[in-house]
Amino acid sequence: MSKKINMEKYFAPDLDKARKRTRNIIEEVRFNLSDAHQKIGYHKTYLIHTYGCQGNVADSETMAGILELMGFSPAISEDQADVIIMNTCAIRENAENRIWGELGRLKAYKRRNPDLILALAGCMAQEENVVKRVLKTYQHVDLIFGTHNIHKIPEYIETAMFSKERVVEVYSREGEIVENLPKRRDHKFKAWVNIMFGCDEFCTYCIVPYTRGKERSRSKEEIIAEIKELAEQGYKEVTLLGQNVNAYGKDRKEDDYTFGDLLRDVNELGIERIRFTTSHPHDLDKKTMEAIRDCNHVMPFFHLPVQSGSNKVLKKMNRHYTKESYLNVLNQLKETVPGISVTTDIIVGFPFEDEDDFNETLDLVEKADFEGAFTFIFSKREGTPAAKYEDLTPEEDKKQRLYRLNEAVNAGYLRGSQRFLDKVVKVLVDGTSKHNDEILSGYSEHQKLVNFKGDPSLIGQIVNVKITVAKTWFLLGEKVD
Ligand code: 5AD
Ligand code: SF4
Repeated sequence: MSKKINMEKYFAPDLDKARKRTRNIIEEVRFNLSDAHQKIGYHKTYLIHTYGCQGNVADSETMAGILELMGFSPAISEDQADVIIMNTCAIRENAENRIWGELGRLKAYKRRNPDLILALAGCMAQEENVVKRVLKTYQHVDLIFGTHNIHKIPEYIETAMFSKERVVEVYSREGEIVENLPKRRDHKFKAWVNIMFGCDEFCTYCIVPYTRGKERSRSKEEIIAEIKELAEQGYKEVTLLGQNVNAYGKDRKEDDYTFGDLLRDVNELGIERIRFTTSHPHDLDKKTMEAIRDCNHVMPFFHLPVQSGSNKVLKKMNRHYTKESYLNVLNQLKETVPGISVTTDIIVGFPFEDEDDFNETLDLVEKADFEGAFTFIFSKREGTPAAKYEDLTPEEDKKQRLYRLNEAVNAGYLRGSQRFLDKVVKVLVDGTSKHNDEILSGYSEHQKLVNFKGDPSLIGQIVNVKITVAKTWFLLGEKVD
């Protein structure tokens, strides 16, 4: 028997509403689990499948934290789970297609265990067309909630369990900033820390400003308290997260406290390594560059998405900079922080891109001397301005451009590796190598993957490694004192 939707409690997403921005000050509220929800999960298990970016990984840690506070424990397999949450990504069509396939596959588990609660969460849940399609053709999905209301999981699970209704609640506008959320962190010595949510850039190809809402920064007090606690618990590395961390604090004008200030304060908290992601070039200021230079715990690595090297395409993308001004900022960064490693994101096959535009991108890749890049073929996202642009480039040409771009990018990866040959680098040891138990694997300060022979007791420690072999994707070395 299929479940009904209680229309009084039905909130579907609306991309037009999601586009609107208010000047309202965002309130802070504190999460508290009510007594009624504390035992719902006893003797029950959950499983979360996470897709997409680090923002989703961090959200899944919050979902797991809430579920465990409700008494749930992690399931060993899908077979055993009482609750399965799909925390989804909407950034490109192929990411979504994979998730549609997975949703279909999970139907078999629901057939075997009709009490299983299957939830769709994350960025796809924020899309109108997705919710419509799930309601129509994926009857086995019991619960849909979005990125703005993770803190309401206890209510949703309760309703889905006891009233046997389908629960749909997606807010198109962000609500409050919710603090005091419990987290079940996946890693023992590396942690994600959200410093802000949402994005106000509205790059014309990007769905994120619609799925994640208005830009809003957490208070510095909350961020610092969270990181202090992580340091006390023995965490070695934190990654500060936001869609555009360089804009941190700009929505809290009363504080006059921006990203550079935050880096300086976080540097004093006893965490060995501080990283951050991701950035927008037009918000990257001198104060931030100088903080990276001056703070010994802030790592010499910067991911600075450029997207294209053609001024015409950058304008159509609404990126607010030119190839020349990007290279200026980049050079300023490299002068301020000598030796810093810079990586980027690039899209090929954007609707207005012709061969000349693409050659501008290749030229920029060479001039910028990136040490890595995530490269993508443009994907139409319904509701974004670029989805309506006429796209005349044949698919085959786009693939060719991606191939040529990757050749150039890989040469940069290799150059970036080779500069560490015969040098001693500091490696935070993550674990043993996937292919060989006797080899340890970890990342250097410049975010290079390093493999070397060593004892597993070094896992979680920072050790000196002398680099003996430099390959495109990794370095090999020997431990030294
Ligand atoms: N098509 C292709 N790539 C995209 N990205 C964002 N939206 C799209 C899209 N519609 C890429 C950008 C961004 C990265 C996270 O994903 O390069 O920086
Ligand atoms: Fe998307 Fe642009 Fe915001 Fe990045 S800065 S999340 S690409 S809109």
